[in-house]
Amino acid sequence: NKFFTLAVVPGDGIGPEVTTEALKVLDAVAAQHGVTFERTEYDLGAKRWHATGETLPDAELEEIRKHDAILLGAVGDPSVPSGVLERGLLLKLRFTLDHYVNLRPSKIYPSVGSPLANPGDVDFVVVREGTEGPYVGNGGALRVGTPAEIATEVSVNTAYGVERVVRDAFARAQARPRKKLTLVHKNNVLVYAGHLWKRTVDAVASEFPDVAVDYLHVDAATIFLVTDPARFDVIVTDNLFGDILTDLAAAISGGIGLAASGNINPDRTAPSMFEPVHGSAPDIAGQQKADPTAAILSAALLLEHLGLPAAARAIEAAVEADIEERTGAARSTAEIGDAIAKRAAG
Ligand code: NAD
Ligand code: IPM
Ligand code: MN
Repeated sequence: NKFFTLAVVPGDGIGPEVTTEALKVLDAVAAQHGVTFERTEYDLGAKRWHATGETLPDAELEEIRKHDAILLGAVGDPSVPSGVLERGLLLKLRFTLDHYVNLRPSKIYPSVGSPLANPGDVDFVVVREGTEGPYVGNGGALRVGTPAEIATEVSVNTAYGVERVVRDAFARAQARPRKKLTLVHKNNVLVYAGHLWKRTVDAVASEFPDVAVDYLHVDAATIFLVTDPARFDVIVTDNLFGDILTDLAAAISGGIGLAASGNINPDRTAPSMFEPVHGSAPDIAGQQKADPTAAILSAALLLEHLGLPAAARAIEAAVEADIEERTGAARSTAEIGDAIAKRAAG
């Protein structure tokens, strides 16, 4: 029997609703695969902030760090100034735990509707850099609220940070059947960061001679994600481009309710964190309208990361079977979770 500790951060909006279903499914497969999870839930997010003013105290972060993995629902609420929870909780976790690989797979299940008429065989993964870029908070504002206001948000790209994520993306491409890597950037305009990324990819490519390398400017990449998404295998890109591209990727491949992600620390110096690509969806929160599939598939990525591929496959197979039977009739969040958990339990 294998034993793992899991920190659970349900968070805001639909976060708790979808996390409940992910845990339900995780429990169903764990029992079948001789795995036990000891879970600790952390009360973080809007409610906590309103009550105490805290987003993520360092002492609690250090507690979370002691776990084998983290499952997160979603963070952000209209009652809290934009950015407070996103930066103070979610990005603090990603940055402090050095989640430099933000892994976001996209695939079209044969039975699921894509808004594209002929999407083809879509099965790619975005390796989004997770600790640098415009997300680092390297900016400021002058003369705020005046006509002379100046706001800057400077993207930080280090040779160290770019090389480690590029190397990870190459290794992932090499392990996949098509062995193709597409760097997405904007090096025709962002010439400092863009050239660092391009040079790094060209240099690391020599260590992976069997991987075919391709480059697209990010604007053109959005064209191809719609007109020919099947051309992609592994995409490596910076933090902000990866954020935008993966919402688009979700939209073309079954919707945001299916898109899972892993914030991976490949060196395993801290726990990795698994969460849906979507946010807290305040427009449908508390109504049992959210699709928990993305959270459930994030739990599969978690199992894979912990070295439990059979349990991960069990979840994926259960999701695939559930998706195949979707008729379009409305089911509650819990009904979808129940159906998938039942299948996953075998
Ligand atoms: P969102 O992803 O929360 O919602 C966008 C749209 O998708 C909404 O119409 C929503 O109802 C729908 N949607 C999202 N998840 C769904 C699901 N599982 N099933 C069905 N429909 C779903 O993005 P937003 O509206 O831009 O952001 C809302 C809040 O969430 C903001 O505070 C934002 O900062 C935060 N956010 C957090 C995360 C995260 O925690 N990882 C990710 C994105 C946004
Ligand atoms: C995501 C979200 C986050 C991001 C926000 C909430 C900080 O959009 O996980 O995709 O931009 O990374
Ligand atoms: Mn996003």
